[in-house]
Amino acid sequence: MNEPVKSVNVRIRRMQLDDLPQVVEIDRSSFSLPWPTNAYRFELLENPNSLVYVAERIAPSAEPIVIGLCVIWLILDEVHVATLATHPDYRRLGIARRLLIQALLDSIQRGCTSATLEVRAGNQAAQALYQEFGFEVAGRRPKYYQDNLEDALIMTVSPLGTAYQTWLMDISAKLDQYHLNELPHTLRSTD
Ligand SMILES: CC(C)(COP(=O)(O)OP(=O)(O)OC[C@H]1O[C@@H](n2cnc3c(N)ncnc32)[C@H](O)[C@@H]1OP(=O)(O)O)[C@@H](O)C(=O)NCCC(=O)NCCS
Repeated sequence: MNEPVKSVNVRIRRMQLDDLPQVVEIDRSSFSLPWPTNAYRFELLENPNSLVYVAERIAPSAEPIVIGLCVIWLILDEVHVATLATHPDYRRLGIARRLLIQALLDSIQRGCTSATLEVRAGNQAAQALYQEFGFEVAGRRPKYYQDNLEDALIMTVSPLGTAYQTWLMDISAKLDQYHLNELPHTLRSTD
């Protein structure tokens, strides 16, 4: 078993084609119904409504590695969070939070006023994350997931107005500050 990771320097950026092998690996280790590689290829190359992100771990003496992913669809004035996952070795480090902040800020900048997503009824971790961002349960799709016929909860947040945008920018700034100022020296010099 891998050593638990305690902190990382991370950069959120748009996904590129050569990220796909790492992205698909994270997807497979995160979901019981993973997306095939072609689905990500479609989102990257062909879907004009989609924005596709990765979280990349930055370390001075190593190649950057992809540790998180997020796909959103912009449909008129609504953003739909299509998928979001963090590599299992890097969870509870704020990676998904950072991905979601970037995705929602970009959506607001493009005119979105509400956000929606589906989440497994039993996925407490994801629901806790979404609740932090103000998402509330707006409905339920019975037996939505084909593998175990689990229900999906539909969660939404609106309006994504100026106050929400300011809140996103504030937490983003706080996260950056944490990484610059509060990391223990030993981690700062090596990671
Ligand atoms: C859900 C998931 C994306 C969260 O990613 P993550 O990078 O670990 O999340 P973060 O570290 O940014 O967590 C932010 C907050 O979300 C909540 N949260 C995240 N994971 C949690 C867990 N396992 N239990 C309870 N709360 C959790 C917490 O409030 C957390 O803040 P805290 O760590 O300061 O308490 C990740 O567990 C994952 O990839 N799961 C499998 C795929 C999946 O379910 N995706 C969502 C599909 S709808």
